Amino acid sequence: MNLRDEAAKVLLGNWRGRSTIPAPGLYPHQWSWDSAFIAAGLRHLSPLRAQQELESLFGAQWSDGRVPHIVFDPSAPRDGYFPGPDFWCSARVNGPAHADTSGIVQPPVHALAAWEVFSSEPDLARRRGFLERLYPKLLAWHGYLRGSRDLGGRGLVSIVHPWESGMDNSPSWDAPLRRVEPVPAGEFRRRDLDHADAAERPTDADYGRYVRLAATYRDHGYADGLDVHEFAVEDPLTNALLAASEDALARIAEELGEDPRPHVAEVSRLRDALAQLHADGLFHSRDVHVGELIRGGSVAGLVPLVVPGLPQAPELIATITGPRFRAAELGVVPSFDLTDPLHDASRYWRGPAWFNIGWLLRRGLARHGATDLAEVLRGGMLSTATRSGFREYVDPTTGEGRGAHHFSWTAAVVLDLTSA
Ligand code: SER
Repeated sequence: MNLRDEAAKVLLGNWRGRSTIPAPGLYPHQWSWDSAFIAAGLRHLSPLRAQQELESLFGAQWSDGRVPHIVFDPSAPRDGYFPGPDFWCSARVNGPAHADTSGIVQPPVHALAAWEVFSSEPDLARRRGFLERLYPKLLAWHGYLRGSRDLGGRGLVSIVHPWESGMDNSPSWDAPLRRVEPVPAGEFRRRDLDHADAAERPTDADYGRYVRLAATYRDHGYADGLDVHEFAVEDPLTNALLAASEDALARIAEELGEDPRPHVAEVSRLRDALAQLHADGLFHSRDVHVGELIRGGSVAGLVPLVVPGLPQAPELIATITGPRFRAAELGVVPSFDLTDPLHDASRYWRGPAWFNIGWLLRRGLARHGATDLAEVLRGGMLSTATRSGFREYVDPTTGEGRGAHHFSWTAAVVLDLTSA
């Protein structure tokens, strides 16, 4: 079987009727940003399913506009994933009546995916009113982030949980997490370790803090405010994806005969606001409670390359090819600075290379004229997938697979890169 057929097999195997699970076993429900990357690959197999993937996610949108990070599958065992529906759902006030969901969010990459899905089969999308139905929901989603999550008051969205970054155990979160009192390990049971090697997952100490932050948010009825959120961080990846998604919303608005100008203005406003996070050749998160940048080498700091017209792009390109990330040589991009003692090549977001981030960076590099490097990343991701299969992440220097097998967004990225 060739790589494309194998990627298709992964996506077809993980399809659950209206949406796709990220991977069998470890992640048995629908995840928000996973669905966006999955839709961008699935469009090459079935444009209809790609539309349904996003529609099912937005079908579980809350009345305040937030798009939950997990939509639980009622046919999966209730205790198969922790924290499951019984943990999250006891206090939802704005959640949908027909679906169990978590109450936190993930990075806003959905409008970008929606535009890609539309573009692959515009006739079908127009016939089904795909963008007509999704556009107001995307507006409400961005409206929630802008309206309820500017906790620092500086025009940037704050994430309030490491899970909201998508990069759960990034070393960037070590300092703000240290202030959080962990829930003792005996008071909950991790289910991830039933499916994955403990050395490739977050530690128990991290988990105790994740659980504390999520339980506190839930116990405040998922209200937002600095008094509720002990963890409040302006993250460059979240804000850069919001800008890239606003750029996609401008195109969507044009297609629908709506005014694109507010979206264009929003891209420019976010681009200016992001400059507050820039230092030492990349972007950093900012700890809102402390009022300072969290300096370090997370790959999140390179993701602003997806923002059109980014003035700092040349510096980011120098950083991605320099000793901290060595992308030209490796063909993949580590999730954390290779020269930092905190780099761990196997542990989740503390070093391994991930395909969704490679996909975003490849687009960003091409957008800013670094087409040769973009092509190196495309080739590097495809040869790594050929060697290691559709793993969740890989050791960035050896390319050895780590984490879950049959990982949907890895397959989706491969499908998209082989269709380019
Ligand atoms: N990424 C988290 C997990 O590993 C939750 O979203 O379960």
